[in-house]
Amino acid sequence: MKIKHQTLGEFIIEKQDSFSYSSGELTKLLNGIGLATKIVNHEVNKAGLVDLIGEVGEINVQGESQQKLDLMANKTFIDTLSKREIVCGIASEEEESFITINSQDKNHQNKYVLLIDPLDGSSNIDVNVSVGTIFSIYKRVTPVGTPVTQEDFLQKGRNQISAGYIIYGSSTMLVFTTGNGVNGFTLNPALGTFYLSHPDMKQPEDGSIYSINEGNCASFEPGINEYLNYCKSTDGKSAYKSRYVGSLVADFHRNLLKGGIYMYPGTKTDTNGKLRLLYECNPIALLAEQAGGGETDGTGSVLDIEPTSLHQRVPFFTGSKNMINELKGFLNQEL
Ligand code: AHG
Ligand code: MN
Ligand code: MN
Repeated sequence: MKIKHQTLGEFIIEKQDSFSYSSGELTKLLNGIGLATKIVNHEVNKAGLVDLIGEVGEINVQGESQQKLDLMANKTFIDTLSKREIVCGIASEEEESFITINSQDKNHQNKYVLLIDPLDGSSNIDVNVSVGTIFSIYKRVTPVGTPVTQEDFLQKGRNQISAGYIIYGSSTMLVFTTGNGVNGFTLNPALGTFYLSHPDMKQPEDGSIYSINEGNCASFEPGINEYLNYCKSTDGKSAYKSRYVGSLVADFHRNLLKGGIYMYPGTKTDTNGKLRLLYECNPIALLAEQAGGGETDGTGSVLDIEPTSLHQRVPFFTGSKNMINELKGFLNQEL
């Protein structure tokens, strides 16, 4: 019987047999992410009241200034999951290297690694605009019973077992896939429970929203600017709307629901753009694919890139299938 208003816990239990790699471990991991999310959500919601706004004065491995909430979210996810010993390793945008998780009785028996952007859209924290968390789960490739190595984290996006994001917006939502479509859960803050509010999400095939930091247009390659002119033109169509929050999670979520395209191309100084392959592009690309949308790095699917380093960046474009195909035409990419 289909339960109405199914909770995240009920959903995970019902679906666990259909996870392609199954096992209680992935179930526990998704529940652990749900728990960490509620803690981060609680902190984000009261950030203006307590001393949680602003910079820490530290620069992370990406050369970016760390915010207090970046560190809080990073610590919460790492602590919550490592204390429960659900994964054998975690790589985070905020950590220089990956973290090995183990205890004597576990003896490196856990099978999954987690990669995470704990707080996405940091620059929006201080101004009360939506931020998010993005996560990605892989099965380790090195033998169980041995410590994880970098190889376990440097896997192609195609190998993801699960990926998702949390948006701390006007309501808090957890949206994820385990390779069988995309489902969205909304947090009831009074009960601390996530309910399935957006079952089997599908991105509209067409859209009329384009999202890009157009301030960088002087250093985009010509094909991108030609596409932007096309977005703004009324030649045989209505001009597209420009919408850019500056939090990938929020921009992607809106375009997933309404139809649209998100772009972060390379620039003259940063030829690979800004977004990180492992913590941002791969999980969002898998969600896009599972929701019927498209994605590319400008030459092919980001999911096929063999990563060479943990904090690698790539140009990234994702959105409604037909809009991505239009863009590919401007970039001379084969459809
Ligand atoms: P993070 O806060 O995790 O560093 O990510 C910020 C990313 C992404 O969320 C967003 O779309 C993009 O940076 C915004 O960059 P610009 O300010 O250059 O537009
Ligand atoms: Mn981010
Ligand atoms: Mn971040």
